[in-house]
Order: sequence, then C-alpha cells, then structure tokens
Amino acid sequence: MRLVLVGPPGAGKGTQAQFIAEHVGVPKISTGDIFRANVSEGTPLGLEAKEYMDRGDLVPDEVTIDMVRNRLLEKDAVGGFLLDGFPRTVPQAETLDDILRESADSKLDVVLELVVDNEEVVRRLSGRRTCRTCNHIWHVDFDPPQQDGICDLDGGELFQRDDDKPATIENRLEVYDEQTAPLIAYYAGRGVLVGIDATGPVDDVTLRAIDALRPYSAAER
Ligand code: AP5
Repeated sequence: MRLVLVGPPGAGKGTQAQFIAEHVGVPKISTGDIFRANVSEGTPLGLEAKEYMDRGDLVPDEVTIDMVRNRLLEKDAVGGFLLDGFPRTVPQAETLDDILRESADSKLDVVLELVVDNEEVVRRLSGRRTCRTCNHIWHVDFDPPQQDGICDLDGGELFQRDDDKPATIENRLEVYDEQTAPLIAYYAGRGVLVGIDATGPVDDVTLRAIDALRPYSAAER
C-alpha cells in the first residue's frame, strides 16, 4: 500500500503512523523525524532545516523533495510506504506523483486525513513529550509515561519539541491552513481521499483508521 497521512500539526499523525505502518506492513517515512535527526546530528541539511522548523515554517520544497525522493528510492519503500508529513504543499504532491510514476510506474492508493479542531491541536501539542532515543510520542495528560520525563519503552529521556511553544504552534496552524489544507481538495479531486474523526482515545482512532483503509489493502482488492 502507498499511503499518505495528512492533518494539522498535532492531529496525531506520528502517533497513528507507527501503528498503521505496522498493521499494513510498510515502512513509515516521516519528514519531520528525518529533519529532527539531521538537526540533532548537526548535518548541513539539519542546519538549513532548523531555522525554518524553529519558526514553524515549512522547509523549502527543493530541499524537502530531494530528501524524500532519495528515501523513496530505497529498497524497503519500493513496494509500499506510509508517508507522515509529506506532501505538505501542492507542488510537493505533484512531485510525489512524478516520482512514483518514474520510479515504479505506480501511484498513491490512499490519502488518510485525520480530522481534529484547533482547540484540541493546541491541547495536544502543548503537552507532547518525545523520547530522545526511540522517538515514541507521549502526552503529559492523555498518554503519560509512568515516570515523569522517562520513556516507558526504553528508559530514554523525554523532551519537549522547540516548535511546540505557543507562538510557534500558532504559526504552524496558519501555515497549515495556507499551504497544506489545499491538498485536501487536490486529493479529493483525484478520488483518493478518506477522512476520519481523529478525536477520542488513541486506540479508537487507530481502529477507525484501519477500518477506513480496509478497502485499499491488497487482500481486500
Ligand atoms: P512534523 O514533525 O511533521 O510536524 P507536524 O505536521 O506539525 O505534526 P506534529 O509532529 O506536530 O503532530 P502529529 O500530527 O504527528 O501529532 P502527534 O502524533 O505527535 O514537522 C515538523 C516541521 O518539519 C515542520 O513544521 C516543518 O518545518 C518541517 N517539515 C516536515 N515535513 C515537511 C515538508 N514535507 N515540507 C516542508 N517542511 C517540512 O500527537 C501530538 C500529541 O497529541 C502527542 O503528545 C500525542 O501523545 C497526543 N495525541 C495523539 N493522538 C491523541 C488522541 N487521540 N487523544 C489525545 N492525545 C493524542
């Protein structure tokens, strides 16, 4: 399955991506995670991306597209993938169509939209904590670790993302409305968009997602 997750910052894309990718049996490719790994390693890509990420702006398309193109050409992604955080602009979506056509004579099967309102997004982002070693996502109220600041899964240190400060969250929501929301109409027009209610407990959202994707899985076609 070739699948894209779309939704505003804090909709739960990263949280759901892990479960869905495992369920469907495809690699999860998160542009946010790739950028953050480059930032923490201090690579030239990370240094360039950091200034945009800290403001809550998008990293320029030319940088992002090359990075994703290279990742999609890796062996594990040839048969399918779950993209989290890409595409985020209509030019990125058009380029993704080109990459798939050129590399594997294929196209996207489905774009899953996680629908959640801004008030909930702010609540989720302000309490988010991420494990420094395994990247697992926690929330101080909705999904707290047993011990404050420590990941239950591997004992790693939990940190708050720099772009989860209130002013940056506000800008990220504006950027989403202006630059990413037009993708909803783009993909609806191609007949590949499926939306689900992404509110309520994480497990309920996962079940809704798996249900919505069932018609697109190879076994069902
Ligand atoms: P990225 O990392 O992709 O950030 P984002 O899209 O803003 O999404 P988030 O990671 O903030 O939220 P999410 O939807 O994954 O929510 P999560 O699961 O963590 O990108 C970061 C930056 O990188 C961008 O701003 C940009 O600068 C750059 N970038 C990345 N891709 C790019 C691209 N293609 N082009 C250009 N630039 C790009 O959940 C949030 C919180 O809510 C967590 O604490 C979680 O525990 C909690 N939660 C999740 N689900 C529930 C639930 N059902 N109920 C209660 N709490 C929940």
